[in-house]
Amino acid sequence: ESPETIIVERRERVGLITLNRPKSLNALNSRLAVEVLAALNGFDADAQIGAIVITGSPRAFAAGADIAEMAEKSFFNFYMDDFLAPWDKIAAISKPIIAAVSGFALGGGCELALLCDIIIASEDAQFGQPEIKLGILPGIGGSQRLTRAVGKSLAMDLVLTGRTIGAAEAKAAGLVARVVPAADLLQTALEVAHTIAAYNAPAVKMAKEAVNRAFEGSLADGLRHERLLFQSAFATEGQKEGMNAFVNKRAPVFRHR
Ligand code: HXC
Repeated sequence: ESPETIIVERRERVGLITLNRPKSLNALNSRLAVEVLAALNGFDADAQIGAIVITGSPRAFAAGADIAEMAEKSFFNFYMDDFLAPWDKIAAISKPIIAAVSGFALGGGCELALLCDIIIASEDAQFGQPEIKLGILPGIGGSQRLTRAVGKSLAMDLVLTGRTIGAAEAKAAGLVARVVPAADLLQTALEVAHTIAAYNAPAVKMAKEAVNRAFEGSLADGLRHERLLFQSAFATEGQKEGMNAFVNKRAPVFRHR
């Protein structure tokens, strides 16, 4: 069954997911959640893919969870149907995911960007957690991931007032990695993804795992975990190739199965 709410493509070793509900500014309904997760799982399991890009439209990455769908939901629906569970599972994807954000990234849209590993924004991107205006609060990790990304004071400001910030402020706060002109957004995100996808795949997976450890447990545990992964990288063919290439002053060629 082909997806209805997203477009799934491959560009060489990069998987590209485009959110595609233009009439509602890519509002994240439950079907879209299931389709995004299925596409991510497919790419994660595919040895031909080394990195993933998620993007939206020029006007909106995503304007949040689908308010029309949520409006009549009860506590019982959310709790018993585990309506938000697909979003949690994105955190288990092992390949790097780049969010290419243009226009609105609000509420669940901002949280989806935060679930990705690198956020690249166009100059006109707008980030915010406006849930408070709807009588609710962030529900797919915003209170935690936004706070870790930008610190307590700005996270409280955004979550409690519902105001949005532009790309420049988001960059200054550490929420986004790079800001580029709108016309260059997808190209830049794909280039970053192609760069990552060309590297030693086990080292890429280990590097993502190691950085993510910085958000769990103690510094000592994180450092111990990094050390084990670092040592493990020497069991990979790509380490031999990367270092041999450097010593012999040539470009490395990493083999991908
Ligand atoms: C459903 C949405 C939507 C949303 C926009 N639309 N956002 N539909 N859910 N989150 C629809 C509008 O109803 C409208 O449909 C069409 O998209 C275009 O939007 P407009 O409002 O006409 O555009 P504009 O005036 O440019 O304003 C853009 C906007 C505004 C500022 C982004 O749409 C807005 O405030 N949207 C809601 C943002 C928000 O509150 N997000 C948080 C949701 S809660 P029609 O049919 O009228 O053309 C959330 C919780 C996450 O995300 C945690 C739990 C999953």
